[in-house]
Amino acid sequence: MTTKASVWRRLVTCLSSLKFYLNVLCLVVTVFVLLQICSIQITQRSLSLPPALLTYLRHQPEHISENKTAYLVEKLRESVTFLPLKDYRFSNKPLEGHTWFMSSLYDNQTKGEAQYQEFPSDSSKGRLLCLKGVDEHDGSWNSYALAWPEALPTNAVLQEGLTFVSYNQYDYGNLWHGLTAVVPFVAWSLRNQCEKPQKWVLYHWGELRFGMGHWLSEIITATYGQQPKFLRFADQDKPVCFEKAVVMRHNEGGMSRERRMEAFDLIRCKARNYCNISSSETSKPQIGMTLLLRTGARSFRNESMVIDVFKRECKRVDGCEINVSYSNNLTFCEQVELMQKTDVLVSPHGAQLTNLFLMD
Ligand SMILES: *[C@@H]1O[C@H](CO)[C@@H](O)[C@H](O)[C@H]1NC(C)=O
Ligand SMILES: *[C@@H]1O[C@H](CO)[C@@H](O)[C@H](O)[C@H]1NC(C)=O
Ligand SMILES: *[C@@H]1O[C@H](CO)[C@@H](O)[C@H](O)[C@H]1NC(C)=O
Ligand SMILES: *[C@@H]1O[C@H](CO)[C@@H](O)[C@H](O)[C@H]1NC(C)=O
Ligand SMILES: *[C@@H]1O[C@H](CO)[C@@H](O)[C@H](O)[C@H]1NC(C)=O
Ligand SMILES: *[C@@H]1O[C@H](CO)[C@@H](O)[C@H](O)[C@H]1NC(C)=O
Repeated sequence: MTTKASVWRRLVTCLSSLKFYLNVLCLVVTVFVLLQICSIQITQRSLSLPPALLTYLRHQPEHISENKTAYLVEKLRESVTFLPLKDYRFSNKPLEGHTWFMSSLYDNQTKGEAQYQEFPSDSSKGRLLCLKGVDEHDGSWNSYALAWPEALPTNAVLQEGLTFVSYNQYDYGNLWHGLTAVVPFVAWSLRNQCEKPQKWVLYHWGELRFGMGHWLSEIITATYGQQPKFLRFADQDKPVCFEKAVVMRHNEGGMSRERRMEAFDLIRCKARNYCNISSSETSKPQIGMTLLLRTGARSFRNESMVIDVFKRECKRVDGCEINVSYSNNLTFCEQVELMQKTDVLVSPHGAQLTNLFLMD
């Protein structure tokens, strides 16, 4: 009985260990098969990708670990996007809202102040303004972009110091239209420690302009104590980025009466100083009457008659002195001086009347 039982026990032990080995074998085979399937799937997926992307994916991790900063800076540089300066979508309302000039950007609109944009600033998230293009006939061929100073676009030139970027719907030759484009910059300087621009960039409808009328140039020279320098873009493909830029595109729009007066007062004061005009009251007539005449279509039809009328009227008033001058043959400083002596100004309608603000 004992031998029978022991044989039986041994048989069970043997069988159970065989089962164990079979189980282990089965597990190993399953794992092997699974691994094979996985590797086949990966190979198949990889094969379905375009070769360029594969190379890119394979190189990316090494590159990043090499120098992640340099890699990201390069990507930022490549992502700078230039948009047309003049946006034709707004050609039916070029002066409304953001205007058709740099239409994607917002102005800083503090109540009573000139509406302006400043770069870099909080609203530009520290990005600089970059301008590109040399077109003088169609502003949609010139373009703008914002870029971080560490990742300026390829080929970019950095313009140091402060640059004033002016947009004018009219022109820089006309005294009035030119002055209304300059006044908000003067107001900005008044609010910012009288900071002077190193350079000016002038646009009309997004088209570049390289100069101003003589009178306006003199106004700027007098106000800032230096002649305005206009930036000339050298190359169609070389963007210029500005260390600091202030952009005006609404002329005096948004400026309160007080802010305008401040700016005009400053310009008048600076102009008199620039022209060495004595402030003593003795050099002035008691009542100065000035006939500021002009030639061309807007002149008086019978000038001698007009002059006679005012001469006669002036004579009837004690202390009245009359000065008859043509705006076109007075130098800038002669105009400043004449206006200082003027209490009553007589003139046909026209831009020469811009000199009004030079009166007391
Ligand atoms: C990584 O690249 C940046 C930008 O080019 C550079 O300033 C920096 O020194 C580089 N760092 C290393 C560890 O090479
Ligand atoms: C607007 O200008 C004011 C005064 O310079 C400044 O405090 C403010 O941050 C500016 N706002 C934006 C959006 O740039
Ligand atoms: C004003 O006076 C200064 C110093 O005497 C002189 O250098 C300058 O040329 C004068 N300006 C004008 C416009 O006469
Ligand atoms: C201008 O007016 C004067 C005075 O009324 C007159 O004598 C003269 O003929 C007029 N001249 C012209 C060109 O009409
Ligand atoms: C000023 O200009 C007018 C017309 O443009 C001319 O008739 C006159 O002689 C000039 N006067 C002087 C002082 O040059
Ligand atoms: C009129 O003003 C101009 C500019 O100040 C001056 O050159 C001219 O001598 C003045 N004429 C008279 C008659 O006062």
